[in-house]
Amino acid sequence: MIRTYRSDDWNSYRMTYNEPHRVLEPLEKELTIVDAALNVLHEVGVLPNTNYDHEKLLAHRQAVAELFEIPWTAITPRMQRLLYAINAIVQPQNMIAAGIFCGNTFISNAGAAVGPGACYTAKQLIGIEIKPEEAERAERNVRRIDHSGIAYIVAADAVDFVAQFPESIDLLYLDADGDRGRSKGIYLEILEAAYDQMPLGSVVLAHNSVNSAERLKSYMEFVRDPSNFRASVNVIFDIEGLEVSVK
Ligand SMILES: C[S@@+](CC[C@H](N)C(=O)[O-])C[C@H]1O[C@@H](n2cnc3c(N)ncnc32)[C@H](O)[C@@H]1O
Repeated sequence: MIRTYRSDDWNSYRMTYNEPHRVLEPLEKELTIVDAALNVLHEVGVLPNTNYDHEKLLAHRQAVAELFEIPWTAITPRMQRLLYAINAIVQPQNMIAAGIFCGNTFISNAGAAVGPGACYTAKQLIGIEIKPEEAERAERNVRRIDHSGIAYIVAADAVDFVAQFPESIDLLYLDADGDRGRSKGIYLEILEAAYDQMPLGSVVLAHNSVNSAERLKSYMEFVRDPSNFRASVNVIFDIEGLEVSVK
């Protein structure tokens, strides 16, 4: 099943990339918009329910604001909430996030299982970043929140890493912008390399489904082909967007 969820204000809800913690709207409004997206994900069978702990999300948000060094990010508060909620609901044992820069996107996913927002116990939460200096900063950031070691960063090419990952990949988050001209087109390469390790019911999240739509054409065709994924929803509540697909 293929759907799009689009909020009326998606194009006017804007963040300043170097002010990651700035409040953009009343909390009630953020909740209403993200709940509406979660309801669509539930309706099409991507999510088994829409329940997550709102207070834990706020505890996670506060810890990231206090402890993370974030030079810039395109993750809006709405997107942070949605990523946290999807992970809290799906509860992936193994989660891999590809192209995580300073780690903010990674922890938006992993924060459902580590740190003050933790609501379940995961096995491995792995962030992959190809630039060693960014991977080091992301690892420093993650260590300030996760003292268990379940969440960690690896400096590697995400295509190679997922291809040799020996266990199931229960949730795959894609945000790499590629190198050598591959740009966001690298999403499909990473997904194809991971696909055989993804069990039925696993979820793939693709950031920038709106502002990189042109580059993601082949990716979107792949996840929207029912022989590859059961359901796929484009969540459009900011100018970045997130395609959420379930196998
Ligand atoms: C634009 S950033 C993502 C930022 C994120 N959207 C945010 O708002 O914080 C994309 C990252 O992907 C990394 N990257 C590019 N190609 C990669 C690859 N093949 N494997 C892993 N990381 C990669 C880049 O070095 C960069 O740090």
